[in-house]
Order: sequence, then structure tokens, then C-alpha cells
Amino acid sequence: MASYLQIADDEKGHDLDLFCVPRHYENDLDKVIIPHGLIMDRTERLARDIIRDMGEHHIVALCVLKGGYKFFADLLDYIKALNQNSDKSVPLTVDFIRVKSYCNDKSTNSVKVIGGDELSSLSGKNVLIVEDIVETGRTMQTLLSLLSECNPKMVKVVSLLVKRTPRSSGYRPDYIGFEVPDAFLVGYALDYNEYFRDLSHICILNDQAKEKYKV
Ligand code: IMP
Ligand code: MG
Repeated sequence: MASYLQIADDEKGHDLDLFCVPRHYENDLDKVIIPHGLIMDRTERLARDIIRDMGEHHIVALCVLKGGYKFFADLLDYIKALNQNSDKSVPLTVDFIRVKSYCNDKSTNSVKVIGGDELSSLSGKNVLIVEDIVETGRTMQTLLSLLSECNPKMVKVVSLLVKRTPRSSGYRPDYIGFEVPDAFLVGYALDYNEYFRDLSHICILNDQAKEKYKV
């Protein structure tokens, strides 16, 4: 079982005033739940765990857009640092796909996969899927069943966050950064209707903001 840093349900978080938060979001957020620095520190360790398990063979890192882009970029920087500072190293190539399953703060039943190279190019490769957050697990299960048709050598999933929720299908990624309470989180590329990707820390969205940015 993957180990992770647990953020408790009664986690009080940190006052916004103690951090740099864009002015335009000041009234939309309750607390900073995971400061940017802690995200980076945990990501550095995930990179080490991933290289330990997958570092024998060409890795294709597959970024699940848009929410995964910050985590993907930072994780790959740490993997690159390991690659260029040790006697052993493996080629790392990248690909990007887009998946959309959310409207407002609710997961919808349809999971759409858009873009990316021909999935057949993943045949025989070690594939690392990089995701921002797993909630019900539906997005990842859909993606994994699509990928399995291309016969990759190995598929591992790393998700920065996993939500503790009764809506979970029971699916767990191979690597997990943090397990988080059942709240709607934004920041570090996690969005609410496309807003809040331009916020460095992971924060809880307040109810007023859910109305304000509703579509
Ligand atoms: P799942 O298919 O229910 O596991 O949902 C996964 C996707 O829903 C993630 O990739 C996110 O894009 C989105 N999502 C789920 N929870 C949150 C959240 O708290 N904030 C922002 N996006 C979320
Ligand atoms: Mg996502």
C-alpha cells in the first residue's frame, strides 16, 4: 500500500494572511491547507520512490491535463535531478492527454479523454500517469482500461492528492502525495471552473466562491 501524508478532517489549516495569495482570490478561500513548500518537499520524495521502482527502463510520463500540469512539471524536475546526479539513469519522455469530468464542484458520470499521441506508442514502455487528484477514481479507471489495450510493459499512477470520500470506488493510485478531507480544493493547478489554477498553495474554496464562479 502506498504511503502518504494524511491531512486530517479537522485540520485547521493556515490563515491566508500568513501567505502570499493573489488579491483577486482573497475573499474566495477559507484556509491554506497545503502550502506550496510542503507540496514541493513531498513531491521530491515521490520522485525518489518512483525512480526506485521504475528506473530500469525508458519511462513515458503521461500528464493528465489540465489539473496535473504543475505537479507534472515539478515531479519531472525532481526525477531529472535524480537522473543527472547518479550513476544510473533512464530516458524520460513526456506526453499529455486531457480529461474532463467535472462541472462546478460535482464529478459527472462521463469521462472524456482528448488529445495525446497515438496510445499505441506506449506499447512496451514503462508508463507513469501523473494526476492531480483522485476522488471517485472513475477518471483513472477509465484511463487505465484504455491504456491496457496498448500493452505497455508497466503502468504506474501517481496522484498528488487522494480524497477521503464515501464516493470512492475503492481505487488507489500506486503513489500518493497527500490524503485529503472531503472538501473542494483549489490551487497548484486544481481549478473550480478554470479559476484558481493561478494560486500556489492548495486551499479550501468557500461556499460564497462556489456561487460566484458557478457556470
Ligand atoms: P474522479 O474521476 O472522481 O476520481 O475525479 C477526478 C478528477 O476530478 C480530477 O482529475 C480533478 O480534475 C477533478 N476533481 C476532483 N476533486 C476535485 C477538487 O477537490 N478540486 C478540483 N478538482 C477536483
Ligand atoms: Mg485531474
